[in-house]
Amino acid sequence: MLAIIGGSGLCNIEGLEIIRREIVRTPYGQPSEPLIFGNLGGKEVIFLARHGANHTLAPHHINYRANIWALQSVGVKSIISIASVGSIEKSIKVGDFVIPHQIIDYTYGRNNTYYDGIDNPVKHIDFTYPYDMSLREIIIQSVQKLTYNFVTEGVYAATQGPRLETAAEIDRYEKDGATIVGMTAMPEAVLARELNLSYVAICPVANHAAGRGESAEGISSAMLNHSSQQTIKNTIDILIHLVKTYGY
Ligand code: HPA
Repeated sequence: MLAIIGGSGLCNIEGLEIIRREIVRTPYGQPSEPLIFGNLGGKEVIFLARHGANHTLAPHHINYRANIWALQSVGVKSIISIASVGSIEKSIKVGDFVIPHQIIDYTYGRNNTYYDGIDNPVKHIDFTYPYDMSLREIIIQSVQKLTYNFVTEGVYAATQGPRLETAAEIDRYEKDGATIVGMTAMPEAVLARELNLSYVAICPVANHAAGRGESAEGISSAMLNHSSQQTIKNTIDILIHLVKTYGY
């Protein structure tokens, strides 16, 4: 079973025929929302709104452990995460879709493992390649047929939020090798890995990162909201295409 985790702007999916909602309790507390079982493009999927149905959860308050645990407990094997980002690299434009291949984690204080030596024995999982490389390939092949602009590699700087970054922080992330910046890839990606779920992200680019391009003087929320309506439509179109072509 495939799950879609929707981020900012994607608290629900227009076109998803809802079959049922399920409240899942986990040893880690409650997920962001009841899981939504539905049909998208004729395929069964499970949808979870990462920030809650009304976007009430800040990135550092999301119960990532409960979310991933809940999905695994109902039989999910693969997760497509939709996570909007700012672009650090000049060639990545607003409205593009980045399929990142790497993560640098700048978050702190989040519950970022199931294997913390309290609930479960300490375990050091391999995370050399944080996204599922074969599912990434399938997705990249599949989206080639679409006309949106896909960037098929990206290094995602995961920041704590909820504030946006300073221009100097963005300069630092770029020096570190990051090409996009967002607030939710971690610990979501590592928790999926710990539970053996394949996990990939598609990142709609909502804005230029702080101090760059159109955001040279700041990031206006008006600009963020303006770009998002079309991007949301495009994201749903991409998801429908993917679930139709994904063999499960
Ligand atoms: N920074 C962090 N997270 C984001 C951004 C950004 O510029 N845009 C969308 N999510």
